Amino acid sequence: MPIWSPSSWRNYPVKQQPSYPRQELLQATLAQLRDYPPLVYTGEVEYLKSLLAEAAQGKRFVLQGGDCAERFRDCTNQAIIDKLKILLQMSLVLIYGLRKPVVRIGRIAGQFAKPRSAEFETIDGQILPVYRGDLVNSFEPDLATRIPDPRRLLQSYYHSSVTMNYVRALIEGGFADLHHPEHWNLEFISASEHRHDYVHLVERLTDAIHFMESLGGVRSSVLGKVNFFTSHEGLLLCYEEALTRHDVESDRYYNLGAHTLWIGDRTRALEGAHVEYFRGLANPIGIKIGPSCSPEELLQLLRILNPLNEWGRITLITRLGQEHILRLLPPLIQAVQKQGARVLWCCDPMHGNTTTTENAFKTRNFEDILRELRLCFELHRNHGSWLGGVHFELTGENVTECTGGAQKIAEQDLSKNYDTYCDPRLNYAQSLEMAFQIAEAHRSARFPSEEIGVQPAQPYGSL
Ligand code: PEP
Ligand code: CO
Repeated sequence: MPIWSPSSWRNYPVKQQPSYPRQELLQATLAQLRDYPPLVYTGEVEYLKSLLAEAAQGKRFVLQGGDCAERFRDCTNQAIIDKLKILLQMSLVLIYGLRKPVVRIGRIAGQFAKPRSAEFETIDGQILPVYRGDLVNSFEPDLATRIPDPRRLLQSYYHSSVTMNYVRALIEGGFADLHHPEHWNLEFISASEHRHDYVHLVERLTDAIHFMESLGGVRSSVLGKVNFFTSHEGLLLCYEEALTRHDVESDRYYNLGAHTLWIGDRTRALEGAHVEYFRGLANPIGIKIGPSCSPEELLQLLRILNPLNEWGRITLITRLGQEHILRLLPPLIQAVQKQGARVLWCCDPMHGNTTTTENAFKTRNFEDILRELRLCFELHRNHGSWLGGVHFELTGENVTECTGGAQKIAEQDLSKNYDTYCDPRLNYAQSLEMAFQIAEAHRSARFPSEEIGVQPAQPYGSL
């Protein structure tokens, strides 16, 4: 393999990069970014890697979630609190249901770049460069602000650091809301056909928390400080390169703009620039695996990206779609098992289940998402493999972007509060309900197996 450097990706074909007309400004901006302090510390990155290594071996569970595209304008007190709150509440439900410690990773503090399927779009008869995330250009359908602007790189760095600072403060400060499920917004439950299960679960969870609190000293270690990590898609490579730093002690390179980054499904070409860039990082990394990834391609990716077959290095985030997962996932699991490849499997039940309504709203249905999730859990179980994490696009707000769930959001309701700049997210109630569903199903081992036709018999962790 040719020698790797933070800029060696420049020698490979690269996808999904904007072309900046203001090259001088771009170079000056990148130079400035290279001088700024990192947003995270190598010790934290290594700690996350050790937790992911345990999750891969069945000892922990990972909850990764947040916006599809973060926006500068959502860098506010309330929006950050809401995002953190839903992730923390979901994680409590999962800890309770799965009886495993949960590793929380936000799609936050840097999720500002989006891959797009076209270069241009037509809005009101005007042909415009497509919106590529706040890191690149503006969402407003205005020709001038759709032109990629290098100043946005610095703005992204600032917004990431402000968000990170506040998340750290909330976590360090104990973020009291977490301890009191009575503060949770649970009105939606009354409309659910599963309300008895949910109410029962919340009661037991509340009881357990109060019990822990009554033990006094245990509280701080069990509930007080929680771990929380940041992640985003490593897409805009000039930005990621500028945040890549040499660690003298280990003589390795870390991307210190986030604890972990993932390669998108559109940019995971074996010979491409993204795989080249990611191969040299010391961070734990994710790879999105969509329907077009063959088992052979997956193994080649693993050989390039994890040559030492380290635990914790790779998270495979499958996003195959509820229609295809039964057919596509087993060969991928079998290939990984045959190879003895050490990976953490994670299910993204969002990106393979996107549809467009007659009124042109991009949406996802709660039941489709849940179905992919159930099948994913079950297929892993039936193959003696451990599904160690879930990956959601979600928000703490009461948006109407995905249909279904206890609030029974219908297609005609979508326009009420459709707020995403990119893909549809689960709202607060839908996200919490998703966690309830996972927890309930695990507690009572109630994931149906008729569809697969094999009884869940094999133990976890035989990888
Ligand atoms: C995403 O996670 O927002 C995304 C674009 O996913 P994928 O690469 O899986 O399509
Ligand atoms: Co998305």
